[in-house]
Amino acid sequence: MAKPKGETYYMKRYNIAVIEGDGIGPEIVAEAKKVLDAVSYNEGFELEYKEYLMGGCAIDACGTPLPDETLRGALSADAVLFGAIGGDKWNSLPREKRPESGLLALRKGLEVFANLRPVKVYDELLEASTLKKDVIKGVDILVVRELIGGIYFGEPRGREGDRAFNTMVYSESEVERIAKVAFEAAMKRGKKVCSVDKANVLDVSQLWREVVTKVSKEYPNVELVHMYVDNAAMQLIANPRQFDVIVTGNLFGDILSDEASMLSGSIGLLPSASIGGRAAIYEPIHGSAPDIAGQGIANPIATISSASMMLKYSLGEEKAAKKIDKAVAKALKDGYRTKDISNYDAKDICSTEEMGSIIADLISKG
Ligand code: IPM
Ligand code: MN
Repeated sequence: MAKPKGETYYMKRYNIAVIEGDGIGPEIVAEAKKVLDAVSYNEGFELEYKEYLMGGCAIDACGTPLPDETLRGALSADAVLFGAIGGDKWNSLPREKRPESGLLALRKGLEVFANLRPVKVYDELLEASTLKKDVIKGVDILVVRELIGGIYFGEPRGREGDRAFNTMVYSESEVERIAKVAFEAAMKRGKKVCSVDKANVLDVSQLWREVVTKVSKEYPNVELVHMYVDNAAMQLIANPRQFDVIVTGNLFGDILSDEASMLSGSIGLLPSASIGGRAAIYEPIHGSAPDIAGQGIANPIATISSASMMLKYSLGEEKAAKKIDKAVAKALKDGYRTKDISNYDAKDICSTEEMGSIIADLISKG
C-alpha cells in the first residue's frame, strides 16, 4: 500500500484471540490463519493473533476447560477465532468439567446470544450431497440460533438420586432480541422468517411464538411462518428451498443446523458467527473430529469461511471477506476437494493444508 506523503501512516491493526482447541482444531485454524494473512496483506491491514487454551487441552494444562486468561483475552480482543473442542479422553468427566463446558462458558461470558449459521449449496458440490440435485440446488438458508439460553443453561438442572433434569427457559426479552436479529437479517435477504418451536407441547415455546409474532409487527415487509420442530426437520429435507431465515432456540438450532449442513454436502463446509455480545466468536459448526485428527484430511473450509464472517461482522473488512468467499468458491469450481466432499479416488484428494494453500494463493494472485 502506498504511504501517504508527509504524514505518519498507521496500518489498521486488529487483535484476534485464537483458540485452536482439540482434535482437528489446530489443523483447520492454521489454514484459516494462512488465508487471513494472504487477504490482510492484500487489503492493507494487519492481524495480530494471540493464542489461548480452551477445552480438553486447557483441562490438561490448567485443570479447567476455560482458563481465566482465555476469557480475559477474548473479552479484550476485536474478535475470537475458534476451531473445535472435545475428545474421547475427556468424555467420562462430569458435565461441568468437560471441554464443552468451556465453550458454553465462553459464549455466556462474551454474551454472544445470536449464532448465525449460513447454509449455502455450492453448485459445484451438488454431487457431494446425499440428496437429489433438484431438491438442493440454490438452497440459501440462514439459521439464527439462540446461543446463551434455553435448555443449555436453564435452572434448575442436575441430578437427584435416580433422576436427572434440565429446564428449558426463555424470557420475553431473550426471545425478543434473537427475533430482532432474525428479522433484521431477513430484511437484507429473502424477507422470510420461519420460527421453529414446539408450541403444541411446551409452554416455553408458546411464549416464544407469542413474542416472535409481536416482534414481526415491526417488520411488515417480512413474511413470518411458525413451524413445529419435528415438521421443520422433515421440511428441511423435503423442500429446503422454502426457507430463508430460520430462527429457533439453542437446542433446536443445534440439531437443525447439523441437519441443514448435509444439504451442502458436508458439515466441514459450514461456518458460524456468534454475535450480539462483547466480542464475537467465529467457529465452524462441526466438532473436533478426533477420529480424523492429525491425518491432514479435515476440511478447513468451514473455518476459513468463519474467518470471512469475522472480517465482515467484527472488523468491517467486507471487501476482504468477499475475496475469501470468492476464493473458496473458485477452489471448489476448479475441482479441489478434501476427502469429505470428494467422489474421487484417494490420490486426487487434497489435504487440509493443500486446500488452505490453494485458497490463499487464489487470493494472493487476485
Ligand atoms: C455446536 C456444538 C456445541 C453446541 C457443543 C460442542 C457444546 O455442537 O457449536 O453446535 O452444542 O452448541
Ligand atoms: Mn452442534
